[in-house]
Amino acid sequence: MILPSIKGTLFLVTSIVSHLAALPTNVINKCPQPSELNPVPPFFIYGHPEDCQQFFLCVFGTPYLMSCPATTSFSELLGVCVDRYSPQDICAQENAVRECSRGASLLAHPQLCHRFYNCSLVVETSSILGRYQDECPYPQYFDTLEKVCKPYSEVSCLDRLEVKDKCEYSKAYECTDVEHCEDCQAVFPSCQGLTDGIYKLLSFHMDLSRDF
Ligand SMILES: *[C@@H]1O[C@H](CO)[C@@H](O)[C@H](O)[C@H]1NC(C)=O
Repeated sequence: MILPSIKGTLFLVTSIVSHLAALPTNVINKCPQPSELNPVPPFFIYGHPEDCQQFFLCVFGTPYLMSCPATTSFSELLGVCVDRYSPQDICAQENAVRECSRGASLLAHPQLCHRFYNCSLVVETSSILGRYQDECPYPQYFDTLEKVCKPYSEVSCLDRLEVKDKCEYSKAYECTDVEHCEDCQAVFPSCQGLTDGIYKLLSFHMDLSRDF
């Protein structure tokens, strides 16, 4: 993920220049404080406890509120703004954790229509996808109102991404015999771009070049 990092760094530089006049807010000050020994504290930024898009920039021991660009989140780990809901977006995952601790039971994934958060999942079993995260069985999507997985044709995903291939579901292809596992695409080829019907698995690529 080099691109978001560069994007984030560039943004950070420009926003430092344009936001230095922002007033300090009364959140917990985690900034390293200047001292006689160390009058210029090291560079330090940290995330906003309630808002993934915001973060604080320390200037001589005082935090200044900053904001990542729309559709990005601040990554405390990387110190840059990363694409929201990407695997690097730890903040969004922690948000689900926060909502679960507030008593939520099932939450839709904000970006992926086939994913959801199940607050009843124990940490160990949900770790493949991220804490509390689970996936509907292929080819189902998660219905935000009824909070259940339903056949894709009955779910309105709105802004959430609708993945269509079986191999785009993380848990759809489980191969335990590691030495003999085939690539998922070879076992479940994509039907995208093809008309309805049955296609031979081996001649799949030849079928693609066929005239329809
Ligand atoms: C959520 O997790 C619990 C505990 O593992 C399970 O019993 C329940 O069926 C799950 N709900 C959904 C919608 O997957």
